[in-house]
Amino acid sequence: MTANDGLKTKRRSFLRIIGTAVGGLALSGLPYAAYGAAAGLKIGIIGSGRIGSTLGELWLKAGHEVMFSSRHLENDQALAARLGGKARAGTPKEAAAFGDVLLFAVPYGALPALGRELAAEIKGKPVIDACNPFVGRDGEIATWARAKGAGLASAELLPGARLVRAFNAIGYARLPDAGERKAGERIGMPMAGDDADAIAVASRLVREIGFEPVVIGPLAMGRYLIPGTPLAGEHGPEEIRKIAASLN
Ligand SMILES: NC(=O)c1ccc[n+]([C@@H]2O[C@H](COP(=O)([O-])OP(=O)(O)OC[C@H]3O[C@@H](n4cnc5c(N)ncnc54)[C@H](OP(=O)(O)O)[C@@H]3O)[C@@H](O)[C@H]2O)c1
Repeated sequence: MTANDGLKTKRRSFLRIIGTAVGGLALSGLPYAAYGAAAGLKIGIIGSGRIGSTLGELWLKAGHEVMFSSRHLENDQALAARLGGKARAGTPKEAAAFGDVLLFAVPYGALPALGRELAAEIKGKPVIDACNPFVGRDGEIATWARAKGAGLASAELLPGARLVRAFNAIGYARLPDAGERKAGERIGMPMAGDDADAIAVASRLVREIGFEPVVIGPLAMGRYLIPGTPLAGEHGPEEIRKIAASLN
């Protein structure tokens, strides 16, 4: 059996298990009531640039509380003031402590230090990882992450987080009108993760802003969730499933 055959088998059995687990959570609402469709979530955003501010604004519109953070609190305060409502600003530590669920949307090179600084706050929390490793921007860490696979690499850099990769390979400017473009079929959002609970909450947040969540497999499949792979760009859910099945 080749390494690819192994991943293929692992992916198939993973999708069976995760499908049952996520379906079960959605039906039972227990023990993860906070993630149920009725309750608004507290979302901590680490990195409030193009992706972070766009998703934060969309989640505010969906009724959640959002704390934005970066290395420049004054920018986040201005952003929160502009967006109003349940928007607020804090340091990365405050945002990580605030969120029931976190979004990391920083250059990949920032992850090692953030993982160390925020270790206590991120432990056990669902974390959506939108970060991509680019060698030209992020240096050696990106070479390492690409070799390891972005999903497993991020999990190592953010230990204790219940990581889900999502929003990695679609331009931030395309996010606000996801729900409006294809009347019959939603645009799919390919996602990868190992934790059913984290996948459930991330799926909710994906769905609420107009995409159809499509779990392509465990975090090891996160290696395909970067720009430049066949999954990048906009695809329907079925197309994403077909592409994912052909990848390993
Ligand atoms: N742009 C896209 O369409 C897109 C799509 C998918 C995925 N991504 C990925 O998402 C991530 C963010 O991309 P972006 O385009 O949103 O970048 P961006 O516009 O440059 O925003 C990055 C944000 O991270 C903050 N930041 C940087 N270093 C930080 C640190 N050490 N601690 C805390 N905050 C820090 C920046 O603010 P300060 O500099 O003020 O700290 C800024 O708010 C990247 O990994 C990118 O590859 C981007």
